[in-house]
Order: sequence, then C-alpha cells, then structure tokens
Amino acid sequence: MRDIDLREAADLIDRAERIVIFTGAGVSAESGIPTFRDALTGLWERFDPRRLATPEAFGDDPALVWGWYEGRRAAVERVEPNAGHRALAAIEQRAPECVVVTQNIDDLHERAGSKEPIHLHGSLFAPRCSACGRPAEVEGTAETDDGRVTPPPCDHCGAPIRPGVVWFGEALPADAFEAAVAAAANCDVLITVGTSGVVFPAAEIPQVTARMGGTVIQVNPDPTPLDSVARINLRGAAAEVLPALVSM
Ligand code: OAD
Repeated sequence: MRDIDLREAADLIDRAERIVIFTGAGVSAESGIPTFRDALTGLWERFDPRRLATPEAFGDDPALVWGWYEGRRAAVERVEPNAGHRALAAIEQRAPECVVVTQNIDDLHERAGSKEPIHLHGSLFAPRCSACGRPAEVEGTAETDDGRVTPPPCDHCGAPIRPGVVWFGEALPADAFEAAVAAAANCDVLITVGTSGVVFPAAEIPQVTARMGGTVIQVNPDPTPLDSVARINLRGAAAEVLPALVSM
C-alpha cells in the first residue's frame, strides 16, 4: 500500500461533508470472527452456511439452526472490537455527516462507538418470533455438545423464536436497504472495508456512490470486483490501514 494513496485517501475523507462507511466480514476478522469465505470450524465445519442460513433449514431443524446462531452470538460476546472498528468510529465522529452501513450481524461497530449502524443483513442481537415477528429478548444459552439448542417459544404466540438475520432467499429489510441506498447516492466519499462485494443487493451500495459521482475508497488485503469502482484501493488489513488513515 503506497503512502501517497493513504495521504490522498485521508485528504478526501477530511474534506468530505457526507461519508458512508460500508463494511463486510473482513472488518471483524481481526477480532477473531471468521469471514464467510473462511471455512467453518469446529462443530460446524461439516455444514455449509448456505444450507444452514435458510428458512427451510430452520423449519426442518430449528434447534440446529438456533444453536448455530447462538454459538456465533456467544463467540461475538467473547471478542472485542478491533482497531479497525475504532478507527471507523473516529472517522464517523469527525465527519459532519456519516452513515455506517454493515452487512455484518455482530455488534462490534456499536461496541466501538458507532452510532446506529444500518444492518442490511440483520443482527445476532435482534431475535424475533418466527410467526408473529415480535422482537424477543436475547437470553444466555446453555452450551450443548452437539450444538443443538431448542429455540425459546414466543411469549405472545408460542411459535419458535428465530435469529433476527437475513437468510438466503429472504429479502433485506426494506427500510434499511432504502436508507443505505439514499446515503450512498448522496455521499461525497464511501469507504468500503472488508467485503468481497459479491453478494447482492448489498454489494450494490458502493456502485450507487460511484454512479452518482461520489468517490469510493476500498480497504481490503485482496482484490475484489469493487476494485473497478474504487478510486483508491488500500491493499491491507482493516486494523492496520484504518488506524494509519485516521492518524495522517
Ligand atoms: P466475505 O467472507 O464474502 O468477504 C470477506 C472479505 O474481507 C474478503 O474480500 C477478504 O479479502 C476481506 N478480508 C479478510 N480479512 C480482512 C481484514 N483483516 N481486513 C479487511 N478485509 C479483510 O464477507 P462479506 O463480503 O461480508 O450474507 O459477505 C457478504 C455477505 O455474504 C454476508 O453478509 C453474508 C454472506 O452470504 C448473509 O448472511 C445474507
């Protein structure tokens, strides 16, 4: 990563009135949360997320799917936001206007100080009833040896509580997506961090900024399809690049 790119990116961010921060699993990697492209490990290595993260899988075996998400929630509660999350919160605090849009279902942006990030794919901390949709409280769950945990019943209608995340085949929350598109269309700079940019419609967000004349800055150690819309590609890990960016 060249210093001149870092300097140019820092100048663009300093001068921007309206900033969007768009993140994927890579921003949480250095907190110890595996990305989607990393292989699943431990109890879950024999499962394919595309099979588990579906309404059908939950219908077939609610305890398996609920147990998987409860394990992921417990894993998030055991880790801390990293320097990348904190640097993004610093950018957010300095900017006249800044919206954080994340594809992640962890709460690490919030714990790093980001205000009300838009969760395009939901959150591990917002379970709801699988039938009436009422929000449910997140309870601590007993660890089990096979990973299965029976989901609690809804207090209102008795149906099983489900994770408050977007499963494959489900639509994104319309209000979240509309707010993210509006912010991306009107920003001066969009900083995309740690996403492979291949899962739509979320991956559309940086494209909207580029089409509307905004500047896209990408932070990722690897090339992605977003390379072609990014004016600056900062090749590196979020917890290294972002602190360097904010200390310029
Ligand atoms: P992916 O796992 O697809 O991509 C992670 C990206 O982070 C890759 O481009 C890595 O190169 C990059 N990366 C890895 N370590 C990094 C680091 N330390 N710093 C910066 N970048 C790093 O995750 P997402 O792009 O977030 O959707 O996946 C998007 C969606 O696909 C997820 O939200 C999920 C999945 O299907 C749903 O669950 C609906």
